[in-house]
Amino acid sequence: MAGVYIHIPFCKQRCHYCNFYSVISEKYRKPFLKALLFEVDQRNDYLKNERVNTIYFGGGTPSLSPVDQLNTIINKIKKVFDVSAEVEITLEANPDDLDADYLKSLKNETPVNRLSIGVQSFFDDDLKYLNRVHSAKQSLTAIELSKNYGFHNLTIDLIYGIPGLTNEKWNDNLKTFFSFDIPHLSSYALTVEPKTALAVLIGKGKMKKTDENESVEHFKILLEKTAEKDFIHYEISNFAREGFYSKHNSIYWLGGHYIGFGPSAHSYNGHSRQWNVANMKQYIEAEKTKNIIFEKEVLSESQRYNEYVMTSLRTTWGCDSEHIQNVFGEKYYNYFNKMIVPFIADENIYQKGNRFFLTDKGKLFADGIASELFMDE
Ligand SMILES: C[S@@+](CC[C@H](N)C(=O)[O-])C[C@H]1O[C@@H](n2cnc3c(N)ncnc32)[C@H](O)[C@@H]1O
Repeated sequence: MAGVYIHIPFCKQRCHYCNFYSVISEKYRKPFLKALLFEVDQRNDYLKNERVNTIYFGGGTPSLSPVDQLNTIINKIKKVFDVSAEVEITLEANPDDLDADYLKSLKNETPVNRLSIGVQSFFDDDLKYLNRVHSAKQSLTAIELSKNYGFHNLTIDLIYGIPGLTNEKWNDNLKTFFSFDIPHLSSYALTVEPKTALAVLIGKGKMKKTDENESVEHFKILLEKTAEKDFIHYEISNFAREGFYSKHNSIYWLGGHYIGFGPSAHSYNGHSRQWNVANMKQYIEAEKTKNIIFEKEVLSESQRYNEYVMTSLRTTWGCDSEHIQNVFGEKYYNYFNKMIVPFIADENIYQKGNRFFLTDKGKLFADGIASELFMDE
């Protein structure tokens, strides 16, 4: 089970909080496509004939791509890799791109079968704070239209902890989400990433600061409301009805292998991680120089153990000490069993057989707890 990620780095405008790699100009679209197809051909042996179960178009804003370009990319991947007949193909989409014509073409002319809509909030003042290009009304229309055109495997992104997003407004956002009967929700706390416009504006006192306590309140509301609707909290930021988990993201969380194409895209094959240059001109050049620019890190045993603990603890499948024993050996197994004890005692972790899970209280400190379980180099 392997996944393919394609980074489509074009946006109409930059969101203040975003630090994913993207360019605003459309002038590179054609050379980008050429370079991308070149990269797919070049790296044909990366997955060593593993079957591809998922293809994920992320960005940037993949929904700015004409459907024929999406098809060209998908067809190339199908030609080069062993793609399953039931492949999940997700497109990240911005609400303002999902008009009737685009949705109709997506549905009728492409094999895209899952949409991830970047709603972020159903309130215009939050969207303004985030510098989103769309309005709340456009989100409502986009969701309605997506369903009408037959996209039922739908997910939306909502951000909480936005200054000005009161508990009442956050509750309303969740209510609006549930009113559409969508089977999946990704929800993230707003993080102020270094060097983003948001960090600069907050630094200059031009935008309100985020408040950690408000984020924690919102997260608690999120857990409560999703549980009331029987959504499964299958990863720290992801909630779904049974059968609608993101297959692609589950590959990341379960330590599966994936290949990422496009500038800044990451790949993992079980023993090393690599990431492409985050620069459009250099990425395009590779097609001429026949030399794709990337950085690579071979993971040590302790790094692989640390990653396993970190990602597995965040999921509904938990962290499996038997897996630790089998894959990393007795030393790691004993270390894990010793280090986990205080977290069980203070009810941040609970145990079922050989699996360990975060309690709701523990979910508030997921990263901190995981790092306490890490093995030093
Ligand atoms: C790469 S973006 C999706 C691309 C799509 N163009 C969009 O903006 O909707 C993936 C998601 O990550 C989340 N995200 C990105 N940066 C974030 C940040 N600094 N804090 C919280 N959530 C963030 C947003 O919810 C966003 O929808």
